[in-house]
This record gives sequence, C-alpha cells and structure tokens, in this order.
Amino acid sequence: MKKVTAALLAGSAALVFATVAQAEPDGEAIYNQACMACHMTGAAGAPIKGDADAWAERLEQDMDTLYAHSIEGIGAMPPKGGHANLSDEEVKAAVDFMLEPVL
Ligand code: HEC
Repeated sequence: MKKVTAALLAGSAALVFATVAQAEPDGEAIYNQACMACHMTGAAGAPIKGDADAWAERLEQDMDTLYAHSIEGIGAMPPKGGHANLSDEEVKAAVDFMLEPVL
C-alpha cells in the first residue's frame, strides 16, 4: 500500500512538473503516443525512461546529438521512432520529457 501511494504521489508530482514546464509541443503526449512502446519496455534495446544507468553514457553526448539521433534514427530506432508525421520540434519535446527524470 505504501508503495502504491508513493508511486501515485510521484506520478502526480511528475504531472504537475510537466504541466508547469511544458514548452509548446506537449512532450508527454507525444512520448505516450510515439515513444513509450519502446522506451517504457526496453524493446529492441531502447534505453528505458527514468533508468539512469541506461542513459548515463548517452547523456555524455550533448542534447543536440540526442535530438539529431531521435530525428534521424539510430541503431534499431527508426527516424522519429517511426512517426514521420511528427515535426522536429515535437520529437525534441518528447526527448526533453523522456530525459527529464535523469537530467
Ligand atoms: C521502435 C522502437 C522505438 C521507438 C518507437 C522509439 N525509440 Fe528511441 N530508441 C530505440 C532504440 C532501440 C534506441 C537505442 C538505439 C541504439 O543506440 O542502438 C533508442 C534510442 C533513443 C535515444 C538515445 C539516442 C542516443 O544518441 O543515444 C533517444 C534520445 C530516443 N531514442 C528518443 C526517442 C523518442 C523521442 C521517441 C519518440 C518520438 C523514440 N525514441 C521512439 C527504439 C525506439
């Protein structure tokens, strides 16, 4: 029970933060729609959202490189996660949302 409460609290704190910090495109919504399938489960070796170890080495690159890889694709990840309809700005917003817990 305690764990559930803690998870719920953490969840709403994250939501509040996302709402306050929200830039123009809604990174959370885009993440949920276009990135979560791989980045929540680790499918195809995708680094999992919130997993600091999985992101540590990648974060040594600068953000521009991470954005570029997300837009152009890298390894098993297709360009824009396979969602060619997303604008570059939308992909960047999703990257920001995904990395927020490990920055
Ligand atoms: C089909 C599965 C899949 C989807 C969907 C997907 N990714 Fe990925 N992503 C991967 C995989 C696999 C890697 C690791 C690729 C590698 O380093 O070989 C990765 C790596 C990344 C990285 C790290 C790049 C780097 O330079 O190390 C970022 C940032 C990222 N994805 C962002 C996103 C964003 C934002 C979305 C949604 C718009 C998304 N991904 C959707 C599979 C996916």
